[in-house]
Amino acid sequence: MTDLKAELLRVALEAAHRAGAFLRDGRPDDLGVAATKSSAVDVVTEMDIASEKLITGFLAEHRPDDGVLGEEGASFEGSSGIQWVVDPIDGTVNYLYGRPDWSVSIAARKDGETLVGVVHAPMRGETCRAVLGEGTFLNDAPVRVRPAPSLDQALVGTGFGYITERRVRQAEVARQLIPRVRDIRRAGSAAIDLCDVAAGRLDAYYERGLNPWDYAAGELVAREAGALTGGRPGEALSGELAVAAPPALFETLQGLLEDLGAWHD
Ligand code: IPD
Repeated sequence: MTDLKAELLRVALEAAHRAGAFLRDGRPDDLGVAATKSSAVDVVTEMDIASEKLITGFLAEHRPDDGVLGEEGASFEGSSGIQWVVDPIDGTVNYLYGRPDWSVSIAARKDGETLVGVVHAPMRGETCRAVLGEGTFLNDAPVRVRPAPSLDQALVGTGFGYITERRVRQAEVARQLIPRVRDIRRAGSAAIDLCDVAAGRLDAYYERGLNPWDYAAGELVAREAGALTGGRPGEALSGELAVAAPPALFETLQGLLEDLGAWHD
């Protein structure tokens, strides 16, 4: 591993663990909604904001020349060519309700390529980490995707956006998909869903409407564990559509999602 990647991994792990401990130990019993974003159900808590501050403060101290893009508004260019992509709580609705599936997601990119991804899920006691070209680890154990089943035997994760029109369309896609697969899961954190593909706890995952902070770390985690990732056929994973699956399942699922129109509202 290069010195740069090792340094970025060290910083990402430390920032994610500090934020995770703060969120786990400091969650107020009466936690409420501090603000809403794209719709009335797209919520931000005071803890999302505080977690992002903690992470960006840590990054400023340890990597002062890097840029940052954060879900709760952190956005500045650096001079080093490294950009951190930060989701201070992925799965905010789970966190709000005291459900365990939420994570801190931190990725480091250079020239648009993700070098390091860390997804830390404190209530699971799990950290998924990947370094480009170096594989994926769940805590200290290397992980790989499951051997691909046929589509009709696949357990597929997905998620739903916060805007009503989009959800209606996503529900229609799920309605048409569910008779063709083993089952569908909606856990509530895209970053954890991608880790679950990496660790063989899901066969595949897809979702429309993600933001870079939702998928930057998880995409590398899934890829380094042997998954293919992408968007519509021939396109890179993006907010339009995210698909992750083992190679022998990927094109079949991607093609079906194309036919079902999973890429538009
Ligand atoms: C959300 C989660 C969820 C996904 C939504 C995301 P947030 O992120 O990843 O699983 O379905 O599309 O917005 O808002 O909790 O950071």
